[in-house]
Amino acid sequence: MNIVLIGMMGSGKSTIGKIIAQTLAWDFYDVDKWIEKERKKTIAEIFSQEGEATFRALESKIIKELAQKNNSVISPGGGAPCFKENWDALKKNGTIIWLKASPQKLLENVKKKPLSLRPLLTGKTSSLETISMLLNKREIFYQKADWVVETDALSLEQTSEKIVNFVKSIK
Ligand code: S3P
Repeated sequence: MNIVLIGMMGSGKSTIGKIIAQTLAWDFYDVDKWIEKERKKTIAEIFSQEGEATFRALESKIIKELAQKNNSVISPGGGAPCFKENWDALKKNGTIIWLKASPQKLLENVKKKPLSLRPLLTGKTSSLETISMLLNKREIFYQKADWVVETDALSLEQTSEKIVNFVKSIK
C-alpha cells in the first residue's frame, strides 16, 4: 500500500510526506521532483518554455510509474488529482489523504518560497484570489479522498502524527 497526499500548493504535502515516510521507514516520492529530474528543468521552466499541457502529460507519466511502488508516501502536485487517469493510477495501490487548508493558510505557506517557483501564481490576479478560485474548482476532486485532515489548526508535526496513526490503524 502507498499513502498519497493530495491538496493545494502550500498544503504541506512534501514536508509532511517526508516526516511520515521517515516515521514509517517508507520511501518518499515527490512527483514534481521526479518531473524535474526527468526533464532536467525546473517546474517553472517547463511551464514557461513548454506550456502547461506538456507539464500535465509528464506529470501523468511519472505518476503512473510512481504509483507502482509499495510502502511509499507519494506527493503529487496540487493539480494532479483533477485528472481521472492520475486518480485511477494512484488509487490502485494507494490510500488517498487530502490535506485540507483554507486559502489564507495556503497563501501564508506559499509565501515562504519565492512566488516565481509557482507558475500558476504569476498572473495578474492576486495570489489569494487565484488560490481560492483553484481550490473552488478542485474541491470536487479532493473530496473523493479516503481521508481528510483539516490542517489549519495543526502544526506539521501534529498533522504527520495524525496520519501515521491512521496508517497504522488501517495496515
Ligand atoms: C500545481 C502545483 C505544483 C506543481 C505545478 C502545478 C497545481 O505542485 O505541480 O506548479 O496545479 O496546483 P505543489 O502542489 O507541490 O506546489
